[in-house]
Amino acid sequence: MKRSLVFATGNQHKLEEVQGLLGKDFALSCLKEVGITEDIPETALTLHENALQKAQYVFEKCACACFADDTGLEIEALNGEPGVFSARYAGPQKDSLANMQLVLKKLQGIGNRKAQFRTVIAYIDAMGNQHLFEGKVEGKIIETPTGAAGFGYDPIFVPEGYTETFAELSMEVKNSMSHRGRAIQKLVDFLNS
Ligand code: IMP
Repeated sequence: MKRSLVFATGNQHKLEEVQGLLGKDFALSCLKEVGITEDIPETALTLHENALQKAQYVFEKCACACFADDTGLEIEALNGEPGVFSARYAGPQKDSLANMQLVLKKLQGIGNRKAQFRTVIAYIDAMGNQHLFEGKVEGKIIETPTGAAGFGYDPIFVPEGYTETFAELSMEVKNSMSHRGRAIQKLVDFLNS
Protein backbone atom coordinates (compact mmCIF):
# COMPACT_ATOMS: atom_id res chain seq x y z
CA MET A 1 0.00 0.00 0.00
CA LYS A 2 1.22 3.51 -0.78
CA ARG A 3 2.24 5.71 2.10
CA SER A 4 0.45 9.08 2.19
CA LEU A 5 2.39 12.25 2.75
CA VAL A 6 1.38 15.88 2.51
CA PHE A 7 3.94 18.21 0.95
CA ALA A 8 3.41 21.80 2.10
CA THR A 9 3.67 23.39 -1.31
CA GLY A 10 1.48 25.01 -3.92
CA ASN A 11 4.31 24.96 -6.46
CA GLN A 12 3.51 22.42 -9.18
CA HIS A 13 7.15 22.28 -10.35
CA LYS A 14 8.32 21.29 -6.90
CA LEU A 15 5.52 18.77 -6.43
CA GLU A 16 6.52 16.99 -9.65
CA GLU A 17 10.22 17.10 -8.79
CA VAL A 18 9.62 15.65 -5.34
CA GLN A 19 7.10 12.99 -6.48
CA GLY A 20 9.75 11.82 -8.96
CA LEU A 21 12.30 11.55 -6.16
CA LEU A 22 9.99 9.76 -3.72
CA GLY A 23 8.95 7.10 -6.23
CA LYS A 24 5.71 5.14 -6.48
CA ASP A 25 5.64 3.81 -2.92
CA PHE A 26 4.52 7.23 -1.76
CA ALA A 27 1.32 9.14 -2.56
CA LEU A 28 2.10 12.81 -2.29
CA SER A 29 -0.66 15.38 -1.74
CA CYS A 30 -0.27 19.11 -2.08
CA LEU A 31 -1.87 21.71 0.16
CA LYS A 32 -4.93 22.23 -2.00
CA GLU A 33 -5.71 18.51 -1.85
CA VAL A 34 -5.95 18.67 1.95
CA GLY A 35 -8.03 21.85 1.89
CA ILE A 36 -5.32 24.39 2.70
CA THR A 37 -5.70 27.26 0.24
CA GLU A 38 -4.40 30.17 2.31
CA ASP A 39 -0.73 31.28 2.29
CA ILE A 40 1.18 29.60 5.12
CA PRO A 41 3.12 32.08 7.25
CA GLU A 42 6.88 32.11 6.60
CA THR A 43 8.11 34.69 9.03
CA ALA A 44 11.25 33.15 10.54
CA LEU A 45 14.79 34.30 9.82
CA THR A 46 16.37 30.91 9.10
CA LEU A 47 15.59 28.14 6.63
CA HIS A 48 15.26 25.62 9.50
CA GLU A 49 12.71 27.70 11.40
CA ASN A 50 10.69 28.50 8.28
CA ALA A 51 10.51 24.85 7.23
CA LEU A 52 9.38 23.84 10.72
CA GLN A 53 6.86 26.66 10.89
CA LYS A 54 5.25 25.50 7.62
CA ALA A 55 5.25 21.79 8.55
CA GLN A 56 3.75 22.54 11.96
CA TYR A 57 1.01 24.62 10.36
CA VAL A 58 0.03 21.70 8.11
CA PHE A 59 0.26 19.16 10.93
CA GLU A 60 -2.06 21.23 13.10
CA LYS A 61 -4.63 21.34 10.27
CA CYS A 62 -4.52 17.74 9.03
CA ALA A 63 -2.87 15.72 11.85
CA CYS A 64 -1.10 13.57 9.28
CA ALA A 65 2.47 12.90 8.17
CA CYS A 66 3.68 15.96 6.31
CA PHE A 67 6.76 17.87 5.35
CA ALA A 68 7.77 21.35 4.26
CA ASP A 69 10.90 22.67 2.64
CA ASP A 70 12.58 26.01 2.64
CA THR A 71 15.33 26.91 0.21
CA GLY A 72 17.74 29.77 -0.13
CA LEU A 73 20.30 30.82 -2.69
CA GLU A 74 23.38 31.89 -0.72
CA ILE A 75 25.89 34.05 -2.59
CA GLU A 76 29.33 34.34 -1.02
CA ALA A 77 30.15 37.87 -2.23
CA LEU A 78 26.76 39.10 -0.95
CA ASN A 79 27.31 37.69 2.56
CA GLY A 80 24.85 34.87 2.01
CA GLU A 81 22.10 36.94 0.36
CA PRO A 82 19.40 36.45 -0.81
CA GLY A 83 19.28 33.45 1.59
CA VAL A 84 16.03 33.10 3.48
CA PHE A 85 14.65 36.03 1.45
CA SER A 86 15.22 34.32 -1.92
CA ALA A 87 11.54 34.30 -2.96
CA ARG A 88 10.99 37.99 -2.23
CA TYR A 89 14.47 39.44 -2.77
CA ALA A 90 13.24 42.15 -5.15
CA GLY A 91 9.93 42.70 -3.33
CA PRO A 92 6.77 41.02 -2.02
CA GLN A 93 5.50 40.22 -5.51
CA LYS A 94 7.92 37.23 -5.61
CA ASP A 95 8.94 37.93 -9.21
CA SER A 96 11.68 35.49 -10.34
CA LEU A 97 12.87 37.72 -13.16
CA ALA A 98 13.17 40.77 -10.90
CA ASN A 99 14.96 38.65 -8.26
CA MET A 100 17.52 37.43 -10.82
CA GLN A 101 18.05 40.94 -12.15
CA LEU A 102 18.69 42.24 -8.64
CA VAL A 103 21.28 39.51 -8.01
CA LEU A 104 23.02 40.28 -11.31
CA LYS A 105 23.01 44.01 -10.55
CA LYS A 106 24.52 43.47 -7.08
CA LEU A 107 27.21 41.21 -8.56
CA GLN A 108 28.16 43.62 -11.35
CA GLY A 109 31.94 44.00 -11.42
CA ILE A 110 32.43 41.36 -8.71
CA GLY A 111 34.76 38.49 -9.64
CA ASN A 112 33.72 36.06 -6.89
CA ARG A 113 30.59 34.39 -8.29
CA LYS A 114 30.50 31.48 -5.81
CA ALA A 115 27.05 30.50 -4.56
CA GLN A 116 25.12 27.59 -3.14
CA PHE A 117 21.54 26.49 -2.93
CA ARG A 118 20.57 25.09 0.46
CA THR A 119 17.33 23.28 1.28
CA VAL A 120 16.04 22.34 4.69
CA ILE A 121 13.18 19.85 4.99
CA ALA A 122 11.11 19.57 8.14
CA TYR A 123 9.21 16.28 8.37
CA ILE A 124 6.56 15.65 11.00
CA ASP A 125 5.39 12.06 11.33
CA ALA A 126 1.82 11.02 12.11
CA MET A 127 2.68 10.99 15.86
CA GLY A 128 3.92 14.60 15.71
CA ASN A 129 7.67 13.87 15.94
CA GLN A 130 9.87 16.38 14.08
CA HIS A 131 12.88 15.55 11.90
CA LEU A 132 15.13 17.90 9.90
CA PHE A 133 17.12 17.15 6.73
CA GLU A 134 19.46 19.43 4.77
CA GLY A 135 20.87 19.32 1.25
CA LYS A 136 23.08 21.74 -0.65
CA VAL A 137 24.76 22.18 -4.01
CA GLU A 138 27.65 24.52 -4.72
CA GLY A 139 28.10 26.40 -7.96
CA LYS A 140 28.42 29.85 -9.47
CA ILE A 141 26.28 32.71 -10.74
CA ILE A 142 26.75 33.49 -14.42
CA GLU A 143 26.25 36.92 -16.00
CA THR A 144 23.43 36.25 -18.45
CA PRO A 145 20.31 34.17 -17.72
CA THR A 146 20.43 31.03 -19.89
CA GLY A 147 17.92 28.20 -20.38
CA ALA A 148 14.16 27.87 -20.10
CA ALA A 149 13.52 24.91 -17.79
CA GLY A 150 13.03 24.98 -14.03
CA PHE A 151 12.09 28.07 -12.03
CA GLY A 152 13.43 30.77 -9.72
CA TYR A 153 17.15 31.43 -10.07
CA ASP A 154 17.76 28.36 -12.29
CA PRO A 155 18.82 30.39 -15.40
CA ILE A 156 21.75 32.05 -13.58
CA PHE A 157 23.06 29.11 -11.50
CA VAL A 158 25.65 26.67 -12.87
CA PRO A 159 26.27 23.76 -10.46
CA GLU A 160 29.84 22.67 -9.80
CA GLY A 161 31.05 20.04 -12.29
CA TYR A 162 28.68 21.25 -15.05
CA THR A 163 28.83 23.87 -17.79
CA GLU A 164 25.05 24.32 -18.13
CA THR A 165 22.69 26.22 -15.83
CA PHE A 166 19.98 24.43 -13.84
CA ALA A 167 17.56 25.84 -16.45
CA GLU A 168 19.39 23.99 -19.24
CA LEU A 169 19.70 20.63 -17.46
CA SER A 170 16.91 18.05 -17.56
CA MET A 171 14.80 17.57 -14.44
CA GLU A 172 16.40 14.13 -13.95
CA VAL A 173 19.92 15.54 -13.97
CA LYS A 174 18.96 18.46 -11.72
CA ASN A 175 17.20 16.14 -9.24
CA SER A 176 20.20 13.83 -9.07
CA MET A 177 22.43 16.46 -7.49
CA SER A 178 20.33 19.48 -6.54
CA HIS A 179 19.96 20.91 -3.03
CA ARG A 180 16.34 19.74 -2.88
CA GLY A 181 17.22 16.37 -4.46
CA ARG A 182 19.85 15.74 -1.79
CA ALA A 183 17.58 16.83 1.08
CA ILE A 184 14.70 14.73 -0.26
CA GLN A 185 17.03 11.73 -0.65
CA LYS A 186 17.86 12.04 3.06
CA LEU A 187 14.12 12.13 3.84
CA VAL A 188 13.49 9.09 1.61
CA ASP A 189 16.36 7.14 3.23
CA PHE A 190 14.90 8.00 6.63
CA LEU A 191 11.34 6.99 5.62
CA ASN A 192 12.64 3.70 4.24
CA SER A 193 14.88 2.90 7.20
P1 IMP B 1 11.23 27.80 -1.51
O1 IMP B 1 11.60 27.87 -0.09
O2 IMP B 1 11.44 26.45 -2.09
O3 IMP B 1 9.90 28.40 -1.82
O4 IMP B 1 12.27 28.68 -2.29
C1 IMP B 1 12.45 30.06 -2.07
C2 IMP B 1 12.92 30.68 -3.34
O5 IMP B 1 14.21 30.17 -3.68
C3 IMP B 1 12.05 30.40 -4.57
O6 IMP B 1 11.04 31.34 -4.70
C4 IMP B 1 13.03 30.52 -5.70
O7 IMP B 1 13.21 31.85 -6.03
C5 IMP B 1 14.30 30.00 -5.08
N1 IMP B 1 14.49 28.57 -5.37
C6 IMP B 1 14.15 27.51 -4.61
N2 IMP B 1 14.48 26.36 -5.19
C7 IMP B 1 15.04 26.70 -6.37
C8 IMP B 1 15.57 25.94 -7.44
O8 IMP B 1 15.60 24.69 -7.45
N3 IMP B 1 16.05 26.64 -8.47
C9 IMP B 1 16.04 28.00 -8.53
N4 IMP B 1 15.54 28.75 -7.57
C10 IMP B 1 15.04 28.11 -6.49
